Amino acid sequence: MRPPLRVAGTVTPPGDKSISHRALLLAALADGPSRIRHILPSADVQATAGALRALGVAVPPLSPDFVVEGRGAAALRTPAHPLDCANSGTTARLLAGVLAALPGVEARLEGDASLSRRPMRRVTTPLAEMGAQLWFEGAAGHDGLPLRLRGAPLRPLAFDSPHASAQVKSALLLAGVVAGVEVTVTEPERSRDHTERMLAARGVRVRVEGRTVRLPAGERLRPCDTDVPGDPSSAMFLAALAALATEGELILEGVALNPTRTGGFDLLRRMGADVTVLGERDAGGEPVGTLRVRPGPLRAIDARGADIPRAIDELPMLACLAARAEGTTVIRDAQELRVKESDRIRAVVANLRAVGVDAEELPDGLVVTGGAHPLAGTVVTHGDHRLAMAFGVLAALPGNAIASGGPGWVAVSYPGFWGELGRVTGGTATPLAVAPAPSSASELPVVVEYPLEGPITIRRSRTVVLPSTSASNREESSP
Ligand code: S3P
Repeated sequence: MRPPLRVAGTVTPPGDKSISHRALLLAALADGPSRIRHILPSADVQATAGALRALGVAVPPLSPDFVVEGRGAAALRTPAHPLDCANSGTTARLLAGVLAALPGVEARLEGDASLSRRPMRRVTTPLAEMGAQLWFEGAAGHDGLPLRLRGAPLRPLAFDSPHASAQVKSALLLAGVVAGVEVTVTEPERSRDHTERMLAARGVRVRVEGRTVRLPAGERLRPCDTDVPGDPSSAMFLAALAALATEGELILEGVALNPTRTGGFDLLRRMGADVTVLGERDAGGEPVGTLRVRPGPLRAIDARGADIPRAIDELPMLACLAARAEGTTVIRDAQELRVKESDRIRAVVANLRAVGVDAEELPDGLVVTGGAHPLAGTVVTHGDHRLAMAFGVLAALPGNAIASGGPGWVAVSYPGFWGELGRVTGGTATPLAVAPAPSSASELPVVVEYPLEGPITIRRSRTVVLPSTSASNREESSP
């Protein structure tokens, strides 16, 4: 029996991160005004906006409704300083494709510690085959950021990608559009197809045949307005909370239901949650709809093959759900998880074990045996927003006592996450005790409380308080 938790309410998840990046980039490359509504104003998307501004594009401050006056790719200029991609792999990889194709422009891409560890060779190898001029500027043998690119005329490319990666595919398509050359990319499994859809909406005759995308030479990009739909990857955390509750339901409005992105909801349904699409419409070439999620008795699943790219960003949450499902869940073919904002296979397994779950690492996935016993312990988020939210959902369940590091990382994709978690549980979610990251062990830990309204409060505490009872939640405030 689960301890009672009621969820209620309607949530409009923030704008889709992938579509937000692409809306900015494509607006910058087109010649004319593109209006962007409901962009995700998160740290990752700010990184793309900042880089475009440094390249000379007039990107206004991100707001719910603004216009980018694009002047075409040829108007982009060598930036006065390195382009800071922060934590954002999409910024770094998509920009690499654009910059490689801009003769006369030279730029250095930099990122934070997590992004700098992530592999860039998957993008630079095919770009170099097109004739791109680029250099890794880190330690010898390091194939991540910092990366310097000097734009050059590019050749056509036919690339058989070893990775099902939308970032790789998109970087090459953008390089092809800007350079005006033919590009064909074949993937082992289809990755998210927002770039293809958004190029088509802008008049580019991109063709998709099975796992192959073909961009003809000499295509022109028209300006186009975008109304960014809600991010299904962000919605997944609240859907999971609703699935784990004991009563009530959540309505998730305006969620992007692109079939290359809805694998997480399908797997949640396969686990036994009641996930229903209440209405679906087309918004600028992307299906968008409302979801209703109700609790259900959860059972283990086996996820692999084509399941994986459609649910890649949802797998940390699904692994946490598996900890509360009956039976043993197996996730395979998910080696891409090792090169996300953290090594999500290693980190999820270590964190599940740290709170008392039977979990095991596989080279390409993980095995999690579910149970109903209370979970207690401290998890490490490694600066990874999706780990912060996945374990934040487990931590919110009554009876669990999970302390976590780095709640602020949610700002990368879902700045309002903690507030929504509090709102939909009527303030009854267990407050999250926040442990300091190992690197800042000398700092006092902080305790975060989910408010019903307004900003979350974070207070320093002399002890990490595991919030099993309200009495043990008293914090000692310190300056
Ligand atoms: C993204 C593609 C995916 C995804 C990332 C966003 C994109 O990465 O994990 O969060 O916007 O293209 P890969 O392309 O590496 O699979």
